[in-house]
Amino acid sequence: MKEAVAQSAVEQIHDGMVLGLGSGSTAALMIEALGLKLSNGELRDIVGVTTSFQGEVLASKLGIPLKNLSAVNRIDLAIDGADEVDPSFQLIKGGGACHVQEKLVAAIADRFVVVVDSTKIVERLNLDFQLPVEVLPSAWKQVQTTLKEFGGDSDLRMATRKAGPVVTDQGNLVLDVSFENGILDPVNLEKSINNIPGVLENGLFVNLTNEVLVGKIVDGKACVDKLIKA
Ligand code: 5RP
Repeated sequence: MKEAVAQSAVEQIHDGMVLGLGSGSTAALMIEALGLKLSNGELRDIVGVTTSFQGEVLASKLGIPLKNLSAVNRIDLAIDGADEVDPSFQLIKGGGACHVQEKLVAAIADRFVVVVDSTKIVERLNLDFQLPVEVLPSAWKQVQTTLKEFGGDSDLRMATRKAGPVVTDQGNLVLDVSFENGILDPVNLEKSINNIPGVLENGLFVNLTNEVLVGKIVDGKACVDKLIKA
């Protein structure tokens, strides 16, 4: 399913585009498909802006020309994965703790296309997937207390194969938050959480998505539904 949506997303890329290159396993498949099209000459004059160290390493390995976010004013097309997508195309992102750079890139993209498999489509956000919140290391306890006042129970995200917490590409920590009844008002919650002192960014992506490509299996075959924002 992920391979099918990655291929479908790459079909939207044209010569000369400045591209936002997302993070996570689905976005990585898209970056690999892009690298292949550049190396066989199907695409030319592409510039990529990565959203994570993961993407930077992969795109560099594939020879995709890259620019820093600060070197571009706008992006033609950003393609990224998501952890949950609701019926209004509001998202939870940050499963890979990359949501700070991912949101910066999505925010300056003319089009933001999300690539997911069908398991990511939900009726309401946060019933199954915790909302990632990136916090300054010294502020994590204080932010956790304030999130509790908002009704959110949070866990400090812990690393695997490293003692202690996950440290983001920016050197911060991540709190993963659950609200008992999920997220009823993503638009206001995004702002309220970002207003807590010590919070850098949260994983609610509100009113940014233009199109969602959903990979699914029908009769044993992977296919893609294209959902376009009305
Ligand atoms: C990373 C992200 C990813 O895009 C999200 O976690 C989806 O990843 P995957 O495609 O591996 O399921 O937001 O911060």
